[in-house]
Amino acid sequence: MKKITVIGTGYVGLVSGTCFSDYGNRVICCDIDAKKIDRLKNYDIPIYEPGLEPLVRKNVERGNLSFTTDISNAIQESDIIFIAVGTPMSPSGEADLSYVKAAAEMIASHMNSYKVIVVKSTVPVGTGRMVQKLIQEHIGERLVSFDVVSNPEFLREGSAVYDCMNMERAIIGSTGEQSADIIRELHAPFETKVLVTDLETAEMIKYAANAFLATKISFINSIANLCERYGADVGHVSEGMGMDSRISGKFLQAGIGYGGSCFPKDTEALRYMSQQVDYDFSMLDAVIQTNEAQRMIVVRKAQDLLGDLGGKTIAVLGLTFKPDTDDLRYAPSLDVIPALVRGGAYVRAFDPVAAHEAEMLLGTERITYYRDLYEAVEGADLCLILTEWEDVLHMDLARVKELVKQPKFVDGRNCFSLELMRQRGFSYRSVGRPD
Ligand code: NAD
Ligand code: UGA
Repeated sequence: MKKITVIGTGYVGLVSGTCFSDYGNRVICCDIDAKKIDRLKNYDIPIYEPGLEPLVRKNVERGNLSFTTDISNAIQESDIIFIAVGTPMSPSGEADLSYVKAAAEMIASHMNSYKVIVVKSTVPVGTGRMVQKLIQEHIGERLVSFDVVSNPEFLREGSAVYDCMNMERAIIGSTGEQSADIIRELHAPFETKVLVTDLETAEMIKYAANAFLATKISFINSIANLCERYGADVGHVSEGMGMDSRISGKFLQAGIGYGGSCFPKDTEALRYMSQQVDYDFSMLDAVIQTNEAQRMIVVRKAQDLLGDLGGKTIAVLGLTFKPDTDDLRYAPSLDVIPALVRGGAYVRAFDPVAAHEAEMLLGTERITYYRDLYEAVEGADLCLILTEWEDVLHMDLARVKELVKQPKFVDGRNCFSLELMRQRGFSYRSVGRPD
């Protein structure tokens, strides 16, 4: 049993802290956001993440998990301290490290004995060393020792609990054997593959992994665009490519490009890191540029089907960047809906969990919001799928056809077979497949 503090109780800190507590460790999750901590104390989970609530409840009740804003006390009571605060994109593309620095300073101020300080946030190469130096400077003459470890997180939103409990690998970047062994031991119950490296390599692995997955997506989207021009079907192209185990079919789903809080931010941060050392990472530029263009192709397809968007009603189905999350950060909907509105359309926006959040971000000028798909499609000239929620994948197409004004679909996620949509009498445009 280890005593752990997790600083930052967001998507990563809350899920990984909860999973560590489930394996018998005593975990204190801290945040500066008092409202978040109050909600968590009442089992009111601030994020939508399947399977998280029962796991939090179970571990709080057995005394393994607690929530607090009293970060100083939590630091003093723990042997291992995870930093899991946000590292958002700054206007230059650089990762904003102000939250990481604030957390490190807080640790330095309250440390009373040997601590392993683990950076779980996604941070540019060199940050672990910077954290080490910053803490050392703050400690000054006080006689407390510590080690800094990099232990990047690889979970996906929407399946975060599953990904964490069944983690494929743990990367442990450290400056010494003692701290590496402590973090390796912490991962033993997960029965996962472990790679121990130095700090810089661990930090680079995280960016390289995300940039590579983003590259696969932009690559298949480019192939999809070619498929449209040559009459091929990208679904089968992905399937055929994926049969080669060297390629793997994962992350070859063509669509409207990647969104979310990670790929857009981390590809930009890696580009910034390249610029800082005068390395021309032109392949990464192309990945980013391809992704930005890809999210707009559904707008063009809607225009093709409707002639002119002016005065038309478009039901946008799915607002989050992927299903099973309430996260709207860099969601394609945030670019697509304003483009539809600029074209003169009225938007009826559906999302089962993030409709209210989307309203806060996009406003109500020509846009109405629904949690019910069938209400959203009422009177629509066109339905436009942006997120493959279960409600979308399993919608009653006969009912939808009765409710809409025109039976027209643009599908940015290739949810339906061409044959099915033809049989049901819809004009249907998807991505990378023959019309
Ligand atoms: P998030 O925004 O959901 O949560 C960050 C939390 O940190 C917030 O609750 C915030 O209030 C808190 N915080 C900020 N400063 C603090 C401080 N000084 N003390 C205590 N709490 C503080 O962020 P997230 O999505 O969990 O991401 C965290 C990091 O993990 C990022 O670097 C991200 O790139 C990385 N990551 C995220 C995911 C993901 O799926 N979201 C997956 C892997 C890695
Ligand atoms: C991603 C990585 O998958 C995680 O390993 C990583 O930990 C995380 O980023 C992070 O660093 O924060 P996440 O962004 O939660 O996780 O979700 P993904 O399932 O990777 O999807 C990202 C985006 O790519 C979504 O918009 C999704 O629709 C899109 N995508 C994914 C595709 O367009 N095609 C695919 O084949 C796969």
